[in-house]
Amino acid sequence: ATTLGASAAEKGRYFGAAVAANHLGESAYTTVLNREFNSVTPENEMKWETIQSSRGSFDYGPADQIVNHATSRGMKVRGHTLVWHSQLPGWVSGLPTATDVRNAMNSHINNVMGHYKGKIHSWDVVNEAFEDGSSGARRNSVFQQRIGNSFIEEAFKTARAADPNAKLCYNDYNIDDMNHAKTRAVYNMVRDFKSRGIPIDCVGLQSHFNSQSPVPSNYQQNIQQFAALGVDVQITELDIEGSGTAQANSYRNVVTACLAVSRCTGITVWGIPDHYSWRSGGTPLLFDRNYNKKPAYDAVLAAL
Ligand code: XIL
Repeated sequence: ATTLGASAAEKGRYFGAAVAANHLGESAYTTVLNREFNSVTPENEMKWETIQSSRGSFDYGPADQIVNHATSRGMKVRGHTLVWHSQLPGWVSGLPTATDVRNAMNSHINNVMGHYKGKIHSWDVVNEAFEDGSSGARRNSVFQQRIGNSFIEEAFKTARAADPNAKLCYNDYNIDDMNHAKTRAVYNMVRDFKSRGIPIDCVGLQSHFNSQSPVPSNYQQNIQQFAALGVDVQITELDIEGSGTAQANSYRNVVTACLAVSRCTGITVWGIPDHYSWRSGGTPLLFDRNYNKKPAYDAVLAAL
């Protein structure tokens, strides 16, 4: 096939992009989005600070724009994200007791997943709950502080009941190298969840790569080790800093690794043209600022 989405579909996968609602009025942007991708992730519109910036009042306007754009064109939607320490409104981080935080977390999950019930193929239920570095420890967040380690499994149980047909993912960055302490910690958590029957269906590897943190040589083995636990793997926020042949080769390696593991079910790039990347001034995506296909695009299409 001649587009990313159609080629991925031939392999039983999806190929998605992070999308921002405020770009949907730009015809060059939607032309490429509609032509190339068969899945979308709202880049910011489903985050807690956008949907429930004050307690009990829910704003689905921006996220609905993206979901409607996608579903009316037969694209899948990834939900991103329900429980995360960042882009979290102050009213949540200020809640004093475990009961308050638990109630707020569960009601947020129920409300958001209820609103989109049946429309989301996979949800990032919990995002970035582990620390960087060699400790393998949980990140300090209001959820961790007030509820303790059990907040993650509680979130997944609530999520399963809220939309039983959505795949429930744990999503994080720097879990791409199988020998990294953070990767081991997430691996151990998923293994524990599977052994105790806590509902989890997928692990999201964000896969933000740059020269400090290149695509690891054991990336495919890492995908394979998660898959062997009985979960799908999705590459959820792929971007690779660089240009030209080097960038193209890195992108090809990622696609090849995913396709080699049957449980690696889809890839999402974290934006469409370089100038809309969250890496401001960077060029980590598949299209340049004029929406021309870069060598990285050609490498991905050839690998799919
Ligand atoms: C980023 C968005 O791309 C930016 O627009 C926003 O300002 C900050 O968040 N990990 C995640 C994503 O899970 O939600 C982040 O997205 C990038 C890192």
